[in-house]
Amino acid sequence: MPLIQEIDYGTPPSSAETMVTLTIDGHEVTVPEGTSIMRAAMVAGIKVPKLCATDMLSAFGSCRLCLVEIEGRGGTPASCTTPVAPGMKVSTTTDRVRRIRRGVMELYLSDHPRDGFTSPVAGSSEFAEAAGLVGLREVRYGTGGVNHLDAKIDDSNPYFEFDPARCIVCSRCVRACEEVQGTFALTVEGRGFASKIVAGQDEPFLTSECVSCGACVQACPTGSLIEKTIVELGQPEHSVVTTCGYCGVGCNFKAEMQGDVVVRMVPWKDGKANHGHSCVKGRFAWGYATHPDRILKPMLRERITDPWQEVSWDEAMARVTAEFHRIQAAYGRGAVGAITSSRCTNEETYLVQKLVRAGFGNNNIDTCARVCHSPTGYGLKTTLGTSAGTNDFDSVDHADVVLVMGANPTDGHPVFASHLKRRLREGAKLIVIDPRRIDLVRMPHVEAAYHLPIRPGTNVAVLDAMAHVIVTEGLVNEAYVRERCEADAFDDWAAFVAEPRNSPEEVEKVSGIPAALIRDAARLYATGGRAAIYYGLGVTEHSQGSTAVMGLANLAMATGNIGFPGTGLNPLRGQNNVQGSCDMGSFPHELPGYRHISDPAVRAIYERIWGITLDPEPGLRIPNMLDAAQDGSFRALYVQGEDIAQSDPDTRHVTAGLEAMEFVVVQDLFLNETANYAHVFLPGSTFLEKEGTFINAERRINLVRKAIAPKNGFADWEITQKIANALGLNWHYRHPSEIMDEIAATTPSFAGVSYAKLEEFGSVQWPCNERAPEGTPVMHVGHFVRGKGHFVVTEYIPTDERTGPRFPLLLTTGRILSQYNVGAQTRRTANSLWHEEDLLEIHPHDAEQRGIRDGDWVRLASRAGETSLRAHITDRVAPGVVYTTFHHPDTQANVVTTDYSDWATNCPEYKVTAVQVTPTNGLSDWQREYRDFAAQSRRVEVVPAK
Ligand code: SF4
Ligand code: SF4
Ligand code: FES
Repeated sequence: MPLIQEIDYGTPPSSAETMVTLTIDGHEVTVPEGTSIMRAAMVAGIKVPKLCATDMLSAFGSCRLCLVEIEGRGGTPASCTTPVAPGMKVSTTTDRVRRIRRGVMELYLSDHPRDGFTSPVAGSSEFAEAAGLVGLREVRYGTGGVNHLDAKIDDSNPYFEFDPARCIVCSRCVRACEEVQGTFALTVEGRGFASKIVAGQDEPFLTSECVSCGACVQACPTGSLIEKTIVELGQPEHSVVTTCGYCGVGCNFKAEMQGDVVVRMVPWKDGKANHGHSCVKGRFAWGYATHPDRILKPMLRERITDPWQEVSWDEAMARVTAEFHRIQAAYGRGAVGAITSSRCTNEETYLVQKLVRAGFGNNNIDTCARVCHSPTGYGLKTTLGTSAGTNDFDSVDHADVVLVMGANPTDGHPVFASHLKRRLREGAKLIVIDPRRIDLVRMPHVEAAYHLPIRPGTNVAVLDAMAHVIVTEGLVNEAYVRERCEADAFDDWAAFVAEPRNSPEEVEKVSGIPAALIRDAARLYATGGRAAIYYGLGVTEHSQGSTAVMGLANLAMATGNIGFPGTGLNPLRGQNNVQGSCDMGSFPHELPGYRHISDPAVRAIYERIWGITLDPEPGLRIPNMLDAAQDGSFRALYVQGEDIAQSDPDTRHVTAGLEAMEFVVVQDLFLNETANYAHVFLPGSTFLEKEGTFINAERRINLVRKAIAPKNGFADWEITQKIANALGLNWHYRHPSEIMDEIAATTPSFAGVSYAKLEEFGSVQWPCNERAPEGTPVMHVGHFVRGKGHFVVTEYIPTDERTGPRFPLLLTTGRILSQYNVGAQTRRTANSLWHEEDLLEIHPHDAEQRGIRDGDWVRLASRAGETSLRAHITDRVAPGVVYTTFHHPDTQANVVTTDYSDWATNCPEYKVTAVQVTPTNGLSDWQREYRDFAAQSRRVEVVPAK
């Protein structure tokens, strides 16, 4: 069990290779050159009292508590700021330093609340510990003089409070905000006794630029900044290390507990994706796990207009079995299917696809990755040979140039964004290609070298134009291409991009980006040193999503920017386990490990282990299932952990498909929008209740450990196993580790993975097998997985979605820091304080033309549908472009997105919809009707389970 209080070495580690040996209090210790005396002492097991130092931050040397004496040197240097030297002899506990420390501590205590050692806030703080180490419990000076004890507590933030009376102005919070988070929201104002910590322009935390990542709270040694849950519940007594259930960064946390109650989540310093940092969602937004809306009992109903009735698990299983059997007997084996979830673990996902292939006897299995990163899988597999990002997050420390395209890391992937900002502050250059002026374009201490405000839908044209510059200006890394890539394919591609129609001057006409800007960005990418690409759904969710991914791969190969730290093609994955859900065989044409279902050798592996015969024909994708439902050939669906009625495009198409089905089973935490069309509801469990693994955007397999028992009685994998056994399969997994053992036994890239290994290493990045027993941080080193890199000619084909007189604006969508995906979890937390409704961003020029003022209700209409929401006027978007988020079911932004999709993968074209925006009075009629329908559909008649 991990310690509640992790070891704090006081200063960060040194990465020097030269080692230095010194003596501290008579103990010899050897550490890398550049290590502080404080850290070296800690390595030797000697704790020097400290307050302003912590190993997450560079040394500052302000509190004067950590003084030591060094033989042959005068004075009492601070051990946190003094580096070790060969042969140095250090004493940490001489009478002199003890005396000075006591004096310092007495001064602090003379202006500190007297409950300093007893309240839950400060009882186990570092401040109390330091006082103990110094050996001081009494203060000679009393507290009668001028002091800060009456300072007002700022409790404006929903998750933490700031009590200035406890503050010793050590500035750890300020430095954490700067060095760890990179937001620069806090400052020390004033001097001497009058100095104090202020947020923003001396305003409440809630209204300041603070993004509530909590780094300041974690850094504070006194409890001056403290989680409200600690104030309310007291200190935790044990902890469980697990993995965040939100985004694809995959941060590790210690769930700090009292019994089975989570008291707080503290980012784990040993977490390899987050190194002790987090965002507001992972650290604070876990209250949905105990929200009263959670459904904890199985429920069923005859018709979707009936109220739900609670039933026993046996009764629910009997209905599920009877209906799937009936429907397959009546309509054929292919009339049923399932959807897996990227919120669920690998083990859960693996079982759902196994249920479909082995139990339903077809391949009608698909996943939400269909609607986000399926083009990544296709594009990277075609060009490089594997369907995953190439580098680990830490690799960004070696990048000289970073190209961010169609991603908004500070909102979508905040902990990686903090890492990236640190590298940018160190001098790496940034290129942003995005229709919106995302925060990274200009924020404190970060400014993009170039922002290309691209017209939505023209990604491929711009990438071809950048390639044109690289090829025609002789910037290709010839040696790399000759050695590592297919020569013929390269020649074809180079000839294609060199054509005048792909020049920046021509592409300016469609993309709206000045040719000179495209040229400058291409030159910087090609010649600025090690260049890394990070991209998101703004690349994939287009009719040419797969083409754009291949366009990025072409750029990276042409410039030799794959196969080394600081380079690569790095998709920023949306959900916590998108990578894993794809790896686990959630697509209708692929078995786990991206092996085609038509390959008899691969099928034979599973047929032998599962004892069945697999259908060699690919099954239906989600949109095809919905079409087939309306045709009458697809009649029943099992949806685990997804809300396709809110997340998928063209909502009317989705709901019409769901409504046409005879039987829908939803397994989830809450009665979501899809459940409005369901006949059986099976309660699911949160990440806090799960055992299993998630795979983050850098292919890192992270353990998810159970902090509390499943509130619904069963883990999600157990529920799938119940369904499988009710359908006649003979499964008898006793623990998710056994499911992982089966995955490892059948999937080459997971061959070396086991729970024992994950426990040993903390996490591993696949491929993990006999060639890479400890995993693979950087892929394609030396050669590409497919052998030679394959350039693909990426012809720009404009989307059929065009603006015109009826729909003159282009809508693009995205998400916001405080909310997550369809909002099912975050809307049930205090995060809604920051974003209680979806807003439509519109440029002042477009707003003025339409008589729209900030905050007005507007009607957003496309050829697919219309919805109403409030307008936010901003020049973040260019004229002609509007933008919204999709976190709230009242808005249902996907009512207006169309059914156009990526040519290769059917990934919907969320990012380009021609729309019109007009003033209106409030919610549309259908929104009001839908509210009524949803309220009606969610009625639960509580008949006690038999
Ligand atoms: S709030 Fe905490 S971390 Fe910040 S200066 Fe005060 S004592 Fe230090
Ligand atoms: S960055 Fe992503 S994984 Fe990390 S805490 Fe935030 S939501 Fe969780
Ligand atoms: S811990 Fe060294 S001066 Fe504060």
